[in-house]
Amino acid sequence: MEFSKVLEERRSVRKYNDLSLSKETIKTILEYAILAPSAHNRQPWYFVVVQNQDKKKEIGDILEEKMGPQGKKTSDVIRDAQVLVLVFIDIEDEVMDLVSVGASIENMVLKARDLDVASLWIGYILNIREEVKRIVKVNKKLVSAVALGYTNAFPSKRPRKELEEVSLFID
Ligand SMILES: Cc1cc2nc3c(=O)[nH]c(=O)nc-3n(C[C@H](O)[C@H](O)[C@H](O)COP(=O)(O)O)c2cc1C
Repeated sequence: MEFSKVLEERRSVRKYNDLSLSKETIKTILEYAILAPSAHNRQPWYFVVVQNQDKKKEIGDILEEKMGPQGKKTSDVIRDAQVLVLVFIDIEDEVMDLVSVGASIENMVLKARDLDVASLWIGYILNIREEVKRIVKVNKKLVSAVALGYTNAFPSKRPRKELEEVSLFID
């Protein structure tokens, strides 16, 4: 897909179908995630790919239990999407490393779109940080998750602020 089209046509997808993602596709998406720039080239990211349906259900159920109806939509995505990528960080410099990991997540969702794979960037998972660490047995700091899968319900574009509102040109 043309680069600008990938950017324009990426969406946060919250409805997934049952089509499974091949390991090769998942690996390709992660290969592009790790091409992201990072402060001092520290590459402070660590990705844990959860495909196991029981584990995904456990994580989704815990989120719903803790957050109630407010967390229901995101919990459903975690249970329904074929893959949940948990994103961990090795922090040396709080801001620099967080920004770097954000760049890798953006690469991930864009490469997914390029491959016609739907995605949702999930920050809500931070509400169950400790529980997730215990379930997957990874002793690092969880910063986000990304759901991946295929969809029949591609959403329309969400509104954006005008460029003038969020930018300043100093000539
Ligand atoms: C850091 C971050 C965390 C997010 N966390 C969630 C989340 O937990 N649940 C959810 O449904 N969407 C989440 N989103 C998706 C946003 O709601 C979405 O990007 C925004 O509404 C714009 O829609 P679009 O991505 O389709 O353009 C998150 C996005 C980002 C960048």
